[in-house]
Amino acid sequence: MIKSPKTSLTIMTNSVLPGETNILNNLFGGELLARMDRAASISASRHSQQIVVTSSVNHVSFDQAITLGSTVTIQAKVSRVFNSSMEVYIDVWVDNPDGEKIKANEAIYTFVAVDINGKPISVDKIKPESEEEQKRYDGALRRRQLSLVLAGKMKAKDATELMALFS
Ligand SMILES: CC(C)(COP(=O)(O)OP(=O)(O)OC[C@H]1O[C@@H](n2cnc3c(N)ncnc32)[C@H](O)[C@@H]1OP(=O)(O)O)[C@@H](O)C(=O)NCCC(=O)NCCS
Repeated sequence: MIKSPKTSLTIMTNSVLPGETNILNNLFGGELLARMDRAASISASRHSQQIVVTSSVNHVSFDQAITLGSTVTIQAKVSRVFNSSMEVYIDVWVDNPDGEKIKANEAIYTFVAVDINGKPISVDKIKPESEEEQKRYDGALRRRQLSLVLAGKMKAKDATELMALFS
């Protein structure tokens, strides 16, 4: 079965409370990583209807500090499925004083669907619909190759999609 990215759409809105910030009263990076992991894991399990585990955090950019009391919205969506693994793209938005949502951060995680014994199992594929979904889908293969090369699970010479970036 081929699914729409909409199936996995997960949106979590929370505030930033005391105890979740650093000395500058900005949200801890680790707290944001945990919130993104939670949203992304729900997204991956919505797509796959299976148990999922975080396999890797491929990219995180903390572009903007998020201050105490902020309203933070995390949106996660599966961008591509390989076999058992799924790339999940996460966008983080913060409400400004006028109530507009300003993009603050983004991240890309990889989840793997597993059976009850933790063994990877294949999941349904995905078909991008919007222009942004297509762009993220297209970039996912080279990000997977980069992640596997960095993890020592793929030889650089086999990462052809990634190498094409440099030629
Ligand atoms: C994730 C896990 C199930 C993978 O198991 P494994 O024995 O390495 O299985 P495989 O080598 O067959 O890899 C399974 C899939 O993960 C992908 N994968 C593994 N490591 C990866 C990495 N660093 N980056 C991207 N994808 C990765 C593989 O490419 C494969 O994808 P595919 O099936 O879509 O082709 C296993 O490593 C695990 O259970 N890790 C712990 C997960 C966990 O506890 N997470 C929470 C951390 S606190």
